[in-house]
Amino acid sequence: MGLVGRHIAALALTASLVSPAWADTISVTPRPLVADPVAGAAPVAVARGARIAVPAGDASAAWTAHYLARLAMRSRGLRLRIGRTTPAIVFVHGGPDLGPEGYTLDAANGAVRIAARTDVGLFYGAVTLWRLMTAAGGRGPATVAAVHIVDRPRFAWRGLLLDSARHLQSVAFVERLIDRMALLKLNTLQWHLTDDQGWRLQIRRYPRLTGVGGWRGAIDPATGKPVRYGGFYSQAEVRRIVAYAARRHVTIVPEIEMPGHALAAIIAYPRLGSSPPDPGVEGDWGVFPAIIDPSEANIRFMENVLGEVSELFPGSWINIGGDEAVKDEWRASPAIRAEMHRLGLADEDALQGWLLGRIGAFLTTRGKRMIGWDDIVTGGTRLPADAAVVSWHADGAARAIALGHDAVIATAPTLYFDNRQAADPAEPPGRGTVVSIEDVYRLDPAPAETPAAGRAHILGVQAQLWSEHMPTERDVALMAFPRAEALAELGWTDPARKDWTDFAARLKADLARDRALGFADDVPGPADAPIDPAHPSRLADQQMRLCTSRVVLNLEAPLEAQRGQRYLVDAMNPCWIYPHADLTRGARLSVAVTRLPFNFQLGGDRTKIPLRAPRTPFGELDISDGCGGKQIASIPLAAAARDPGVTVLEAEAPPTSGWSDLCLEFTQRSLDPMWVVGWAQVDPR
Ligand code: ACM
Repeated sequence: MGLVGRHIAALALTASLVSPAWADTISVTPRPLVADPVAGAAPVAVARGARIAVPAGDASAAWTAHYLARLAMRSRGLRLRIGRTTPAIVFVHGGPDLGPEGYTLDAANGAVRIAARTDVGLFYGAVTLWRLMTAAGGRGPATVAAVHIVDRPRFAWRGLLLDSARHLQSVAFVERLIDRMALLKLNTLQWHLTDDQGWRLQIRRYPRLTGVGGWRGAIDPATGKPVRYGGFYSQAEVRRIVAYAARRHVTIVPEIEMPGHALAAIIAYPRLGSSPPDPGVEGDWGVFPAIIDPSEANIRFMENVLGEVSELFPGSWINIGGDEAVKDEWRASPAIRAEMHRLGLADEDALQGWLLGRIGAFLTTRGKRMIGWDDIVTGGTRLPADAAVVSWHADGAARAIALGHDAVIATAPTLYFDNRQAADPAEPPGRGTVVSIEDVYRLDPAPAETPAAGRAHILGVQAQLWSEHMPTERDVALMAFPRAEALAELGWTDPARKDWTDFAARLKADLARDRALGFADDVPGPADAPIDPAHPSRLADQQMRLCTSRVVLNLEAPLEAQRGQRYLVDAMNPCWIYPHADLTRGARLSVAVTRLPFNFQLGGDRTKIPLRAPRTPFGELDISDGCGGKQIASIPLAAAARDPGVTVLEAEAPPTSGWSDLCLEFTQRSLDPMWVVGWAQVDPR
């Protein structure tokens, strides 16, 4: 069973509690506002060659009809035609006012009728019909349960963030992601196109942004040698993706980061920087000190960039980032401090507020609304009144709303989909907090206790696919799905209609739909193998506990020889606990260890990582009875230090009075490289 299958199998027990007849025939995610069976009416048969009738001269409805026909062909091999004679499916404009995205669907008396006042509503009605037609699985003619559906979304913003700056994805992948979003009625893709590690969007006026800033030093996994990593999206490719998304009613919100998270741009054009850039670190992860100098020339530069961005992306929003801007370089620059005083600004946060206010005013002249991470409200109230935030801090939305701004709920860690989904060694690399699909489902973006005035400012909800530790498209897809199904229900479904058990039952049908459509994430592979059944006392680090959880990462080994090997580590304190080891008669301890590059920018936090002094030239792996407890074994790392791969260290543990939580820690002189544990095994005597 593949990884997605495993996520869903884990829910099978919950699913079996639901009445199968109901769940199998009206299996629509996100769950509609009203979906009532029509008593006494027969299901509607959708036969081969069945016709879809669309309003005369309505190009958008015709496109949607073709889209539905393509879906039916791909998922059931069922050919539908567009035509007005004895149609089985009828699209009409009209019906009740259900807002800009609502629709009704009535299946009874031999036909399905979808009514909406808008093109979007018709599109979502068609998506719902495709779900009804595929609820039971199988190929060929479909049966649609007799049902009356009235539907509209809870929130206008139902988003995913795709990080193409840290690792690049193909145009085909981005389009596939948009398709999958549309089928879940997710309508906003925040496209993270620039960061410290890369600038991915062609800007005609400044070719070095991609020519230089699109590339960085990296390690070639096959050889372990440094190579260049990079690439970018041409404006022609972006136009194609934007058009592809628009037809599926997905708006792309481009994100152009400033004034921090901008090292790639500063390396390309050093005059952008507040101090000379350090080009040796652009392949690291973390929070960099580099920050744009808020000079008039640089503001003009960013305006010119945003001018091109505004033309490429027709949606109303542009995200300017604004998060995690480290202001040390501003503090250290006499010229910037003088400018700050000339402007009458109290501190560097106010300077950021002023800078982003200037950028926001420019965007307003281009007919765009500014949005940024919730950090942008820290610098005061110079932002345009209609600026909004993407709230990744637990208190970010409340702070922005108190200042009158709108907010999208994107709270970490629950909506950071780069976190792993289970304590399973087969999980893709990423961040290490376990965020299950149920954790996502149970989040309420606007809980009932939120005051009504505040709730009105909540635009919606968004999950983030940060890609630092997800080099492949398969990794990204496995992190996105099936959790995006829960996200879709958070964004769309009325809270009174949310029901975890019902949702879990619907997931299984969606796995079958994804397979039928060829979204082949669920590929069994070597990395999917269960842990070695011959070693039941062996725990992969993903199954152990970490001693602390400050910056928990599930890192992939860079070398090809270790492909698929992941290491769960708190980068702020590499320390693992093997729980409940039976040492009553002594035991043989085996621990697999290796070294990973310490490539994290942590600023001053670097000094908070404990370094324990070695007692032998290459240091030791120390194993103790609980952290800070009695030492059980200390194994020199000399042999492991000579081995570029994984080394298995062994030691005898003497009998102790009982069961122990074994604490595994390394001694070492420097942070780089970072020793990590792959697995540990305890074989009692
Ligand atoms: C963020 O995670 N820095 C938005």
